[in-house]
Amino acid sequence: MSDRVVLAYSGGLDTSAAIRWLDEKYNMEVIAVCVDVGGVNDIRAIREKAIKVGAIRSLSMDAKEVFINSFVFPALKANAIYEGQYPLATALARPLIAQLLVDVARKEEATAIAHGCTGKGNDQVRFDVSIMTLAPEFKIIAPAREWGMTREETIAYARRHDIPVPVTVTSPYSIDENLWGRSIECGMLEDPWVEPAEEVFAWTKSISDTPDEPSYIEIGFEKGISVSLNGQKLDGVSLVQQLNKLAGEHGVGRIDHIENRLVGIKSREIYEAPAATVLLKAHQALEALTLSKHQLRFKEKVVSEYSDLIYNGLWFTALRQDLAAYIDSSQRYVTGVVKIKLFKGNCQIVGRKSPNSLYIHDLATYDKGDIFDQSASPGFIHIWGLPSKIQTQVQFSAQLKEENSA
Ligand code: ARG
Repeated sequence: MSDRVVLAYSGGLDTSAAIRWLDEKYNMEVIAVCVDVGGVNDIRAIREKAIKVGAIRSLSMDAKEVFINSFVFPALKANAIYEGQYPLATALARPLIAQLLVDVARKEEATAIAHGCTGKGNDQVRFDVSIMTLAPEFKIIAPAREWGMTREETIAYARRHDIPVPVTVTSPYSIDENLWGRSIECGMLEDPWVEPAEEVFAWTKSISDTPDEPSYIEIGFEKGISVSLNGQKLDGVSLVQQLNKLAGEHGVGRIDHIENRLVGIKSREIYEAPAATVLLKAHQALEALTLSKHQLRFKEKVVSEYSDLIYNGLWFTALRQDLAAYIDSSQRYVTGVVKIKLFKGNCQIVGRKSPNSLYIHDLATYDKGDIFDQSASPGFIHIWGLPSKIQTQVQFSAQLKEENSA
């Protein structure tokens, strides 16, 4: 009996070619696994295609719920964004897919796990590191990293092997999609000076086509997690799906990022992330109301580490768990409602409220009812300004005198 390999299968050109290639090159039986994290249209068609192309078994799984609850929401609680721009959609999905591949590989007594990543991107790192961490016993194979075929050659290889070549193959773009966002690379986008053509966008309307009236929406949070939209309780998947539609309709969530990949390359990435854009902004607005200044300052440092480690494929690490524990603890009081105005590509926070709000009107007001003791300020300022005053007297005024006398 030949060895078995579990392949992360998307139904696209590369992973379809990989089914035949794994057989030819390694004499392995392929078990195809298609994981739906929100970017799959017809999962049955994909499952069937794997068999047609030569897989001995083909599985599909709906992982949307665990993706949102166990990967996206922890990132939302953290406000995880890479380099201030990218909400990490693909980076969050890879460790989950790796975990599911490992589960199948164990059940099916496979000896190897394969994925369709090339050798130039971050995704190979995320898959490989996750797999080798969770299950070092499996050999990892990345056909597209090994076979050395160009896109044209891969198409020819597919034709030679009667593998149906999808029409989308003629598209110059490389696209990845899940509930948290959509990424578009390649083609004209490789010139960072060139504005993306309208055709690269699928989730967000062009500003010229967005409604002329704003939409006001309210998002409810409980302990840092979004739980309702306009007063209606929603499970995470539905909430994110509805928000992608709503905000996309107003052209919200387009991102154009020159990104630093882990493998040393700068790349130009276009993203569409309507729900992520709105939720991250709303969540931060609620934190501004419910966390102390000290918590907010410290959390910024944690978040920059947390975002980098997600991007760099280190989800399954003790450090991730440690930081997540801190982040969870910070969310105890992040409960409340945020009001947002969506209009012409903008997502503007226009209101926020919380039972745990640290905003005290009577302290902030300039009107009557002010309870702030202004007589305490001069003493506070005397001490606060003391180091600056002393340093200037000792070091700078002497220097000034010298310069003047010279
Ligand atoms: N640059 C993003 C990231 O590294 C998106 C990658 C999209 N992946 C893909 N195979 N098209 O997470």
